[in-house]
Amino acid sequence: MGAGNAMARSVNPVEFHDYSAASSDFLNEVLSGLSNIPKAIPAKYLYDQRGAELFNKICELPEYYPTRTETGIFRDNADDIAEHMGEKNIFVELGSGNSEKARILLESFRPSQYLGVDISKEFLLEATQNLADDYPWLQVHAVCADFSRQLRLPAHCISSSIVAFYLGSSIGNFHPDEAVAFMQQIHKLIGIGNQLLIGVDLKKDEQFLHAAYNDKAGVTAAFNLNLLHRMNRELDADIDVEKFQHEAFYNPSRGRIEMHLVSITNQVLKIGKRKFSLALGDSIHTESSYKYSLQEFGQLAEQSGFRIQKVWTDENNYFSTQLLIAI
Ligand code: AVJ
Repeated sequence: MGAGNAMARSVNPVEFHDYSAASSDFLNEVLSGLSNIPKAIPAKYLYDQRGAELFNKICELPEYYPTRTETGIFRDNADDIAEHMGEKNIFVELGSGNSEKARILLESFRPSQYLGVDISKEFLLEATQNLADDYPWLQVHAVCADFSRQLRLPAHCISSSIVAFYLGSSIGNFHPDEAVAFMQQIHKLIGIGNQLLIGVDLKKDEQFLHAAYNDKAGVTAAFNLNLLHRMNRELDADIDVEKFQHEAFYNPSRGRIEMHLVSITNQVLKIGKRKFSLALGDSIHTESSYKYSLQEFGQLAEQSGFRIQKVWTDENNYFSTQLLIAI
């Protein structure tokens, strides 16, 4: 279980399950991503401990509407959401982050178990332990995993009474085809008749979207550039981060925000024994954030084997919380 000292002292210790990927995956994916045309590094690598901290700061920015809007939808509709979800024993939250949003629903549901699944280990351990300390009646599990690779849970946590949460529009990180494949995985995990509560960010005014990924305080830029710092910290790299600039824009034909690290000079990146030449203006694509219309996401859900039971939105139709049932 490897529950560490701090946790062993808790009255309600978290059970930790480590399914995390080997650290060589980061090196391999960076090397292959920089060899590709165009250059791209998977977005999940933005979330080391520092990245997860910065992402939490993003969630509080005035320009970043998704977190606040989704939380508002939960608060305004907690009873209705609860009514539409059957009695479920086990809550599984994929990409649980700070577990803050789940709290709103945990209190009205009172499941017996909560499983937080996240790629960012230190963050996951802290967040789940806080949850366990605040809810002594709840059995809490922390599963450190890159679930985009393999979605599995500890065997003794799987039951017929399971509900999955995938909040914050993290589904937007996937290309729509990958999103279908991933939702099929969730379907397999929860089984027919069980539900998935998913947060989906909606298509909207481009200027408004642009502002959300180009905040005035520069936190999103720091989040993006942290990937280069992480490469310096964890790989044998010597990147001059000053030679890159954060860029984020809406790509209307693909319906997504794209985040890039753009080289502001001609330069050669050295990573281990490998070298990569970048010219001024060359970019590394670091994240996509797909936005959907309700209709588009409805099709995606259907293709993945789900039926939509109910959709809640905010008054501006910025964001949606969707309850899906596996059929
Ligand atoms: C965690 C993927 C939902 O796409 O809005 C926020 C990540 N990146 N600002 C998003 C993110 C830059 C976020 N998701």
